[in-house]
Amino acid sequence: MKALILYSSRDGQTRAIASYIASQLQDTLSCDVIDLLQAENVDLEQYQRVMIGASIRYGHFHPALDKFVKVHAARLNQMPSAFFSVNLTARKPEKRSPQTNGYTRKFLLASPWRPTQCAVFAGALRYPRYRWFDRIMIQFIMRMTGGETDSSKEVEYTNWQEVDRFAQEFRQLPYEK
Ligand SMILES: Cc1cc2nc3c(=O)[nH]c(=O)nc-3n(C[C@H](O)[C@H](O)[C@H](O)COP(=O)(O)O)c2cc1C
Repeated sequence: MKALILYSSRDGQTRAIASYIASQLQDTLSCDVIDLLQAENVDLEQYQRVMIGASIRYGHFHPALDKFVKVHAARLNQMPSAFFSVNLTARKPEKRSPQTNGYTRKFLLASPWRPTQCAVFAGALRYPRYRWFDRIMIQFIMRMTGGETDSSKEVEYTNWQEVDRFAQEFRQLPYEK
C-alpha cells in the first residue's frame, strides 16, 4: 500500500516530522515524502492514503497549502487522509488540539477538505538560525507569551511520542473512509 506525505516547511521542522512519520511507517507502508511546493503535478490516484503537514509563519500557512487543497479536495475527501500543523503556539498543551489551536481550527473551518485525522504539533525555536528581523520578532512574541527569550538558544518543543501515536493511527485508518 502506498502513502503520500506532503509537507510545507520553512526551517525544516515540519519536513523532519514528515520524514520521521515515514520512517515509522516504512515496515507496512511505502511512503513518498514530497515538498508541497513541488507537488503540483502529483497523481493522488497512485496512493491509498495521504497526509499533509504544514507550519505557521507570522500567523499563516504557506499559500501552497490552500492551493493544493482546493485543486485536490474531491480526491482528498474520497481517501483516508490526515493533516498536521506545526507552530510554536502549540508548545502550550491547551493550544495543541485542532479545536484549541486557532490556526488549525480556522484552516479546517474554511477548507473544502475534511481530513479523516488531524493533529497539532509544537515546532522548534531556533534563534541562531533566524535572520535579524525574524529573531527580533520571535523574541518579542516570546516575551509577550511567556516563552524563551534567550536568542542564543535552540529549543525543540516537538513531542515525538505524540508524532509516533499519530503515525500509528494513520497506519490504521480504514481504507474505506
Ligand atoms: C519568522 C517566523 C515566524 C513565525 N510565526 C509564528 C506564528 O505566527 N505563530 C506560531 O505559533 N509560530 C510561529 N513561528 C514558529 C514556527 O511555526 C515553528 O518554528 C515551526 O517549528 C516552523 O516549522 P518549519 O521549520 O517546518 O517551518 C514562527 C517562526 C518563524 C521563524
